[in-house]
Amino acid sequence: MATFIVLLGPPGVGKGTQAEILADTTKLAHVSSGDLFRENIKNQTELGKLAKSYLDKGDLVPDDLTISMIRDRLNRPDCEAGAILDGFPRTPAQADALEMMLAEFKGQVDVVPYITAAESILVVRASGRWTCRAQGHIYHQKFNQPKQAGICDIDGSELYQREDDKVETVTKRIRVYLEQTMPLVEYYRQRDKLVEVNGAQAVEQVTKDLLSALKK
Ligand code: AP5
Ligand code: MG
Repeated sequence: MATFIVLLGPPGVGKGTQAEILADTTKLAHVSSGDLFRENIKNQTELGKLAKSYLDKGDLVPDDLTISMIRDRLNRPDCEAGAILDGFPRTPAQADALEMMLAEFKGQVDVVPYITAAESILVVRASGRWTCRAQGHIYHQKFNQPKQAGICDIDGSELYQREDDKVETVTKRIRVYLEQTMPLVEYYRQRDKLVEVNGAQAVEQVTKDLLSALKK
């Protein structure tokens, strides 16, 4: 049976960083809704054109667009054994849609690690982030520096600062998260899937805690 892990947590807490590591360790696909939107924006697809203003403002893209993008992604062959979902679902409607999709694939959400950290930490992490242009690999100007400034260690592409990582937009994204995504904590707690992980620790320690959460 396929394994689906939902990483839940506020903007900048380290979902993408940890999803990259966990995908490597578990050999599951890394499915990041934010990366998929940014890829569509870069390639100027119809979806990218529709999504851009929402990302720039720090608002959520409407559920129907988001759900159909994820459905297409989960239908790709690399998701046959399952996936680590990073940034999806983000609303109760998305979570219901995910349950229905996974039922079609004879799968289910196995576990939902909920990564937490204080708002002050989130702002420092997001506003110091550098992202790789080619594949979205993640760095930080202080906590996770590339070997050579401005260049991705993994694929040599240019590093850039995300448009939505300005302090005002990060603060807005945190507010949107509290209003629209926080209900998922109760949603998954009631279904006995939620495992809390302290995200305010070094990357390696968060990974250790996540790996032990996955064993449950
Ligand atoms: P998305 O790209 O998903 O952004 P996010 O959820 O706001 O989360 P981030 O990517 O900002 O943070 P992260 O938790 O991945 O942290 P990271 O590992 O990079 O979404 C962007 C936009 O797309 C949304 O605003 C919305 O418009 C749209 N969207 C996406 N999904 C959607 C959905 N489902 N529905 C509707 N709209 C959607 O780490 C952050 C920084 O901290 C990095 O620099 C990293 O190096 C550093 N760091 C990480 N861990 C540590 C650590 N332990 N110690 C020190 N530094 C660390
Ligand atoms: Mg991310």
